[in-house]
Amino acid sequence: MDWGLKNRISRILQPKTGKTVMLAVDHGYFLGPTTGLEVPRKTIAPLLPFADSLMLTRGVLRTSVDPTTSTPIVLRVSGGTSILGTLSNEGIAVAMEDAVRLNVAAVALSIFVGSPHEKETLLSLTTLIDQAYNYGIPVLAVTAVGKDMKRDSQYIGLACRIAAELGAHIVKTYYCEGFEKVVESCPVPVVIAGGKKVTEREALELSYNAIQAGASGVDMGRNIFQSENPVAMIQAVRAIVHDKASVSEAWELFAKHKNAKRPAVKQTV
Ligand code: 5RP
Repeated sequence: MDWGLKNRISRILQPKTGKTVMLAVDHGYFLGPTTGLEVPRKTIAPLLPFADSLMLTRGVLRTSVDPTTSTPIVLRVSGGTSILGTLSNEGIAVAMEDAVRLNVAAVALSIFVGSPHEKETLLSLTTLIDQAYNYGIPVLAVTAVGKDMKRDSQYIGLACRIAAELGAHIVKTYYCEGFEKVVESCPVPVVIAGGKKVTEREALELSYNAIQAGASGVDMGRNIFQSENPVAMIQAVRAIVHDKASVSEAWELFAKHKNAKRPAVKQTV
């Protein structure tokens, strides 16, 4: 694998643990002002020191993130649809030259396997991979799941494997029963989305189960930034992903940071 590509991947998947806590704040690209992300700058700033990478659109990156940050950027480059239209009808919405200009560590695109636009989104993925290879930029494929689509290991496994076969370097998907099978049959690292907001304890359980099943980490959004205490929550998730914490240990950490008077400081992994 090319040096630049390997270097960028190692900025996302931390070499010490081989795992990652990605913070996803790209929801506005089709959802508009999502709860907790109404003013992106306010949400992102306190969480940035605790994220191994930040996944977002170029609009929010340029307007709402301090350019002196050392946190690697995973740039959402697919778009063109909204919650009011047909979600699967996305295309590539950013030129690779702009991703290079923004000094990103990776680019991300959603595929919609089993949807009316399956073929277009899969071919967008291959086009993006070919374009990104020219610059040594890895591609994260997001296996998006429509409202009416099943989230079982057969479907998730199918979507993840297709993404990897087409050349994605990292796959982001949803946790499901039998997730070990999904990870085992996907030859590239798999990270999980958090999905809709659940209780903090449930989100920690989800993270723990995914890591136990072999996931390489999380690319979590709502269950962090919609938490009653996002900074405490991201640290608890980090403990599970990087420090082998149990759910109870992470839960205790969440409570400790939630009640702390002083601002939290990032622990090295
Ligand atoms: C949308 C995305 C989001 O980034 C993703 O859903 C992660 O966020 P959450 O943890 O809130 O589900 O990729 O397609």
